[in-house]
Amino acid sequence: MLKTKIAVLVSGGGTNLQALIDAQKSAIIKSGEIVTVIADKPTAYALTRAANANIPTAVVCKKECAGQADFEEKLLAELKKAEVEMIILAGFMCILSADFTKRWENRIINVHPSLIPSFCGEGFYGLHVHEAALGYGVKVTGATVHFVNEIPDGGKIILQKAVTIQDGDTPEVLQKRVMEEAEWKILPQAAEIVAADIAANRK
Ligand code: GAR
Repeated sequence: MLKTKIAVLVSGGGTNLQALIDAQKSAIIKSGEIVTVIADKPTAYALTRAANANIPTAVVCKKECAGQADFEEKLLAELKKAEVEMIILAGFMCILSADFTKRWENRIINVHPSLIPSFCGEGFYGLHVHEAALGYGVKVTGATVHFVNEIPDGGKIILQKAVTIQDGDTPEVLQKRVMEEAEWKILPQAAEIVAADIAANRK
C-alpha cells in the first residue's frame, strides 16, 4: 500500500518531530512517510532535526505574512507542493482557522501536553500548561493526541497517556517527564493509526 504523505508543522525545538523521525526509522510508523517539515519561523531548531534526517523543509514566516489568511494560503501552497495527505502539529504554536481545519477534516492531528479537557484551549501551550497543572495542584497530568478542528484543542481524542506529578516538580521537570513518558510515545502511535486509516481509504 502507498504510504500516507505527512507534513509535520513545528515552531520550536522539535523533540516531538524527533520522536516521529525515530518512529519512522523503527517502523512504529509504517503506513506514513514524513515528506516535509514546515516551520512558522526560520529559527526553529526542528528544521535542523529535519535536515539531519534528510527530510525537505520549508519556512512560512508568520511574522512576514499579511494576516492569518495570507499565512494559511502560503501553508496550503507548501502542502500542495509536497502532495501532503495528513498534517501533524508537533509543537506548532499557531492556531489554524475553521476554514483551514474544515478542508483537512480528520487529517490534522495535534499533541497537547495535558489530559484534555484539563489545561487546554487558547493560551495553554508549552510550559504554561505545566505551570497551570502545578498551580492547580493536580496529582496526575499527561498528554493527548487529538484531531484538530475549529476549536483549539477541541477535536476528537485519539490517544491519551497519564503521567504522575511528583513532589517538588517544577514546570520544566514536569514538561520533560510528560514528553518522555507520554508525548514521544503516543504521538507516533496516533500518527500510525491515522496514516494507516488514510492509506486504507484512499480512492
Ligand atoms: C510539546 O510539549 C507540545 O506538546 C507542546 O509544545 C511542546 C513542543 O516541544 N505543544 C503545545 O503546547 C500545543 N498546544 P517540541 O518542539 O520539543 O516538540
